[in-house]
Amino acid sequence: MDTKGILEIIQRNGKNRAGLIAILEEIQAEYAYLPEAALRLVAKETGRSLADVYGVATFYKAFSLKPKGRHCISVCLGTACHVRGAQKIVEEFSQELGIKPGETTPDNEVTLETVNCLGACALGPTVVADGRYFPHVCKNKVNGIIDAAVKGLEHYDEKTDGRIFPLEVSCPVCRKSLMSPDHHIDGRPSVSLEVSLDGRRDRLHFSSLYGSRTPASGSEIPPSSVSRFHCPHCRNEIPCFSDCLECGSPMAALYIREGVVWEICTRRGCPGHMLNLRHINLHRADEGK
Ligand code: FES
Repeated sequence: MDTKGILEIIQRNGKNRAGLIAILEEIQAEYAYLPEAALRLVAKETGRSLADVYGVATFYKAFSLKPKGRHCISVCLGTACHVRGAQKIVEEFSQELGIKPGETTPDNEVTLETVNCLGACALGPTVVADGRYFPHVCKNKVNGIIDAAVKGLEHYDEKTDGRIFPLEVSCPVCRKSLMSPDHHIDGRPSVSLEVSLDGRRDRLHFSSLYGSRTPASGSEIPPSSVSRFHCPHCRNEIPCFSDCLECGSPMAALYIREGVVWEICTRRGCPGHMLNLRHINLHRADEGK
């Protein structure tokens, strides 16, 4: 284990709870799991008990105490996906890869996992490979997903890749558009919000392409900080109804249409996002005018 490298990670991320999650994320990214020696070092250096660090490491699905393969495929077995045949999808992956859920192929290429809900129930059966969502998966798509994961999913083409699609969002309180035609990201109008942290307000722009990995821009909010999102029109805070599956931070719910929201993780740099079915009952800013 590279002790110096881990000490640098700890130094970079601070010692509060958000910092601890960021530390574990960086170690996980470096080693593809959390080695016991690294957890002991994190506990010692952050002044936390080993039980506390272990508790965080085992709470989030994104962390693993066992070495994982270079690519990770997660099949959702939540209720909505289950009733659409997700169990058969798991069996197909198991057969093609020659491993059971929770195992890694002998060449260390692919780890197969099952999860309880990926937050995209309307798109089920849903599979995530290396962080990329595959909707409406059927048995004959399984081989293609394995091939795509092994070849690498970092490069995508919006025109040919059905997992990437544009969204138009509004403020869930005043319903005014949050799209910014003057600030393009990924060749499209970006989503524009105000963010606040420790009394400081700033503007944030991010891609309106669902599934894009292009980083957000325009904000000085430091990486890994959890900020609050606000509508630039009515100034109300964008409400959060659930926590991010990747890091546990609150997810801000942007309005798409009645009963559908796009939830975005409020921690800077976290790729966590999901489409969700949710009826928002807020007192709208324009009511009574
Ligand atoms: S049940 Fe599968 S994404 Fe929610």
